[in-house]
Amino acid sequence: MAIKALIFDLDGVLVDTAKYHYLAWKRLADELGFFFSQEDNERLKGVSRVRSLEILLEVGGIQFEDDVKTKLADKKNGWYVDYIMKMTPDEILPGVIPLLEETRKKGLKTAIGSASKNAKTILEKIDILKYFDVIIDGNKVSKAKPDPEVFLLAASEIGVKPNECIVFEDAEAGVDAALNGKMLVVGIGSEKNLGHANIVVPGFQNVSIDSFLKLAE
Ligand code: G6P
Ligand code: MG
Repeated sequence: MAIKALIFDLDGVLVDTAKYHYLAWKRLADELGFFFSQEDNERLKGVSRVRSLEILLEVGGIQFEDDVKTKLADKKNGWYVDYIMKMTPDEILPGVIPLLEETRKKGLKTAIGSASKNAKTILEKIDILKYFDVIIDGNKVSKAKPDPEVFLLAASEIGVKPNECIVFEDAEAGVDAALNGKMLVVGIGSEKNLGHANIVVPGFQNVSIDSFLKLAE
């Protein structure tokens, strides 16, 4: 099957926003009176905002009613948005722009498949909206990764079949989501937690699209 489209997760694949999520979640934990480590933050990658808050509260050993949880998640998001509003194109991860340029030259379709409700703001701030035909973010889906909804919706909006897509993901739940959608998936990061992807690369530096397209042969 020939590959017709590439679907990119945003956070951790095109840009490193985990550091801003961490600062905002840590500020919330500080206010609630417990320590939230960078290691704890690893558990939040690829996970929805609500689920992230639940994990954070688990770490702190605290429980709240749903209305309080909504307020806490909103508070964290306000701080997070303050950080991302200051983002610039300098923060695009190495190798991303050459890869997106090559994608365009080859006539492949492109989509963003992200759990974040802030995806559009980030894409605008780092000025890469023009590289994407379709954007599916946390505002458009109801089921979180590892459910394949986000990637299946991206494929259907582009007008291609799942097996004509390659997904790029840095989170374990995201790799699972792509596989659950019967898509090929490139893990961005380490074999340690992404070993179930079809191939794992540390990042986009010194890689060519052809090496990914070969996965479909
Ligand atoms: C991405 C990130 C997660 C984040 C989620 C929701 O998947 O990897 O860490 O929790 O998006 O982001 P949001 O911007 O909507 O709070
Ligand atoms: Mg990610």
